[in-house]
Amino acid sequence: MKIYRFDTEHLATVYVAAIIESLMATKANPVLGLATGATTVNLYRQLVEFHQQGLSFSHVTTVNLDEYVGLPAGHPQSYHQFMHCHLFEHLDIPADQTFLLNGVTTDVAAECERYDRIISSYPIDLQILGIGRNGHIGFNEPDISLKTLTHVITLSPDTIAANARFFSEPKAVPTQAITMGIQSILQAKVIILMAFGRNKAHSVKRALSGEVSTRVPASFLQMHPNVTFVLDKEAAIELGTETFFQLSRS
Ligand code: F6R
Repeated sequence: MKIYRFDTEHLATVYVAAIIESLMATKANPVLGLATGATTVNLYRQLVEFHQQGLSFSHVTTVNLDEYVGLPAGHPQSYHQFMHCHLFEHLDIPADQTFLLNGVTTDVAAECERYDRIISSYPIDLQILGIGRNGHIGFNEPDISLKTLTHVITLSPDTIAANARFFSEPKAVPTQAITMGIQSILQAKVIILMAFGRNKAHSVKRALSGEVSTRVPASFLQMHPNVTFVLDKEAAIELGTETFFQLSRS
């Protein structure tokens, strides 16, 4: 487990974008596991900048973590739409190399099985994660047990409250999502969890320094052999200074 603390979110995202570029340069058909949400916006902007400077993504495959139940791909708050607006429409990845969950499927069990087959067919080289204030990764919410594979989950009140900022009103936030399971996330060869801001500090601390617990799904990352937490100063504020490698200009 590596923990990198950067002075700013900008430096942190440039670092993660450079790791993605390096993977793309060394692997013929790299598979990226991707997250959505505010944490990823600047990372995707950086990747778009790389593309504008000549970096091709045509050999990349992407697999997204999750999608809201009930939101069609064209809904402005769907994760399909998020990925399209922030990343895919600006890059040259063929559409059939981008995999997302269908939030309006009429057969949820079949959709989960379809996704698990995709994850098996395209083993993820590098999984990008954010973290919820409650310690969730993907939409694997704290509970007495966690599901291993792709499944439907009822979102916690904390997640609904946190994500209400993207919707017109809290009542408009879907109450369920489909998410990759914890085992699928842990199967990625390399995992980078990004967290920025003071409101992530407590979940980062609990993920890193507590016991592995289903009450803090991100704590399961402690069991993975190649995980890096990429933090800004605020997200790292509850960690002891000895715990991380500091990438700082000062
Ligand atoms: C979304 C996802 C979630 C988010 C987390 C943080 O695809 O996987 O786990 O990463 O909720 O969201 P933000 O970045 O909006 O704080």
